[in-house]
Amino acid sequence: MDMKIMRAIELGKTYRDGEKETEVLRQINLEIEEGEFVTIAGPSGSGKSTLLGLLAGLDKPTTGQVFIGENEITSLNENLLAKIRGKMLGFVFQSFNLIPTLNTLENIELPLFLNKIHDVNRAKELIDLVGLSHRSKHYPNQLSGGEQQRVAIARALVCDPPIILADEPTGNLDSRNSKTVIDLLVNLSAEKSKTVIVVTHDLDFAQKAKRVIHINDGRIQ
Ligand SMILES: Nc1ncnc2c1ncn2[C@@H]1O[C@H](COP(=O)(O)OP(=O)(O)OP(=O)(O)O)[C@@H](O)[C@H]1O
Ligand SMILES: [Mg+2]
Repeated sequence: MDMKIMRAIELGKTYRDGEKETEVLRQINLEIEEGEFVTIAGPSGSGKSTLLGLLAGLDKPTTGQVFIGENEITSLNENLLAKIRGKMLGFVFQSFNLIPTLNTLENIELPLFLNKIHDVNRAKELIDLVGLSHRSKHYPNQLSGGEQQRVAIARALVCDPPIILADEPTGNLDSRNSKTVIDLLVNLSAEKSKTVIVVTHDLDFAQKAKRVIHINDGRIQ
């Protein structure tokens, strides 16, 4: 039995812009265990966000394969991919990506509707988990950066996915809010056995990870 929850095999990504080709990632091989807390580090422009996007199936690689559990996702059609993403993955963006016209509760509930999950208490549980019960009716522009990021984390968790991917989740936060977000994500792995993969420059994060994947010049070092 293979217990790897995520695998990348000979992954490569070349961006084509008219005549111009930029090879951003090459020969990336990666295996991630269930429940692992992994950080991805590397200089700006080294391909970290590109890699996370490929692992999440948000973008297609130029070469290679990505497995989420037993499913090879690069060959799936959009429909099936969306199903697997909905079931298996939660994604946290650096810039939060909340819907401005929905309040905290509604933003967190949205993935439940999209995945046709009927559970009236679930979103409230998540609001409690991230400590925002007193902000459930607030809209994103009425929340601080740290609060918005906690909404984004609650939204990523609401369908209870086994894998959480986060792209510089503390990049826009001050040190106190960063600590809250780091603790939240670390606890997900330690206490709830989630697999957590975080792109980060934050040394506090890197210190808590058993494994740091270093990317440089499009390769794992
Ligand atoms: N859609 C795109 N089209 C063309 N080039 C792109 C595209 N997206 C990213 N790139 C290029 O690919 C390289 C890697 O970008 P990526 O965003 O993955 O880097 P990163 O490691 O996340 O950097 P940062 O730490 O600044 O977020 C950069 O040189 C970037 O300009
Ligand atoms: Mg990036």
